[in-house]
Amino acid sequence: MEYFQVDSSVLPQHLSAIFPMTATQLPTSATNLAKTERDRQKYHIVTFGCQMNKADSERMAGVLENMGYTATDEAETADLILYNTCSIRDNAEQKVYSYLGRQVKRKHANPNLTLVVAGCVAQQEGEALLRRVPELDLVMGPQHVNRLEDLLTQVFNGNQVAATEEAYIEEDITKPRRNSTIAAWVNVIYGCNESCTYCIVPAVRGKEQSRTPEVIRQEVLSLAAQGYKEITLLGQNIDAYGRDLPPGGVGAGVGGKITLTDLLYFIHDVEGIERIRFATSHPRYFSPRLIKACAELPKVCEHFHIPFQSGDNDVLKAMARGYTQEKYRRIIDSIREIMPDASISADAIVAFPGETEAQFENTVRMVEEISFDLVNTAAYSPRPGTPAALWDNQLSEEVKSDRLQRLNHVVNQKAAERSQRYLGRKESVLIESVNPKNAKQLMGRTRGNRLVFLENSGLSESQFAGLIGQILNLQITEARPFSLTGVIA
Ligand code: SAH
Ligand code: SF4
Ligand code: F3S
Repeated sequence: MEYFQVDSSVLPQHLSAIFPMTATQLPTSATNLAKTERDRQKYHIVTFGCQMNKADSERMAGVLENMGYTATDEAETADLILYNTCSIRDNAEQKVYSYLGRQVKRKHANPNLTLVVAGCVAQQEGEALLRRVPELDLVMGPQHVNRLEDLLTQVFNGNQVAATEEAYIEEDITKPRRNSTIAAWVNVIYGCNESCTYCIVPAVRGKEQSRTPEVIRQEVLSLAAQGYKEITLLGQNIDAYGRDLPPGGVGAGVGGKITLTDLLYFIHDVEGIERIRFATSHPRYFSPRLIKACAELPKVCEHFHIPFQSGDNDVLKAMARGYTQEKYRRIIDSIREIMPDASISADAIVAFPGETEAQFENTVRMVEEISFDLVNTAAYSPRPGTPAALWDNQLSEEVKSDRLQRLNHVVNQKAAERSQRYLGRKESVLIESVNPKNAKQLMGRTRGNRLVFLENSGLSESQFAGLIGQILNLQITEARPFSLTGVIA
């Protein structure tokens, strides 16, 4: 999974209404506006965290636009500000408080400003957040994303609202306002049923809820009709897809439960969609059948994001991950056996409580020996209500930052080596957009998910821009650790 923070006015799709609904309501100062007045109102969304949050922000932006709001990139001129927050580590959580501080001051001058905190910090803190920041109008957990209009109506009726009860996520008809016109997220399974001892996600995202294969296929068909070329199926543990659905449904083997593998076969024929990705995979559920399907199905890209977290079996056990480092290596070996060029990325945590220097070195060795294309690394951060946060064998900040630096060094070195294999090669690249950092370049990704920049060599501006959405054969001329440069071959 990819971690990011974007200031954006992002977008959604399909999905949800929720019940039961027992939002807390306290008096506040928001105003009641007619829809015509709202047409002049602007919203600004800031998204923190993972792709789930990106996808949720797209859905919430869709709801807001449906209500008459228009997007703005400037927080300072917005009438409604929504922070879609992440709580995976303490530093992610703290970000929202610093952003909020500025807007709270603005709200004192302009009581009509609507302030919303959504996402995982909202779910974690609930009403406590309203007490901590009384200027907030709405605190809403991720399971309430599709109820945004409902919740805002309560706010405009003069209430301060906290919507954080566990809820069933229903399909919704509101169209997301998607960030890209080329590549789209498709939620496949919400929530997480694991209990990794360090992780806040099960507490903030709730129990697993798989969408049915029919509605997923419907959404993919509609994306294809809108001209989308790539989809990424999303789930915290995408390979656990289907286990909460009743057996014997569409797409499943006779009497059996549908799996991610079945789902890939079920949606693969959708015409117009050229690439299919999925993330994040959990080593516990990654099956040989899935590997075979990825090799067999031409649209499924050869990129696997499979976090290993630690290269040491005792640490993995303390984390309650449910696999050994040997099992993880076997998964990678079987992928590479039939897809030798597959790109492999992962997440890893250093300085988990009690991790010894020798155990840390096992993680370093794992990164060296597997040779990942990318590893998202983080120092362990104690999270409220998680078991590991209460253990008395916590490591010091010095050990955390020292180990993180040392691991990052190896990660970068390996990524640079892995990138070199692309040099001089021809790669199929889906051009997605203009490079936001250099308007003279376009940018896209290889099937293995490496970013590629393309310079204009002799095309008119409009011809060049017309390449967006096309899959081009590019000759790779430069290779940096995490990106490439190419020319049309
Ligand atoms: N469901 C995915 C990961 C989702 S959370 C999986 O199980 O693989 C994304 C990443 O955040 C995790 O892979 C982990 O590396 C990191 N992470 C989660 N909790 C953390 C914590 N308390 N401290 C540091 N990193 C953490
Ligand atoms: Fe967190 Fe573990 Fe669930 Fe991943 S599988 S989201 S790390 S609890
Ligand atoms: Fe994602 Fe952060 Fe929530 S990683 S699931 S937004 S805690």
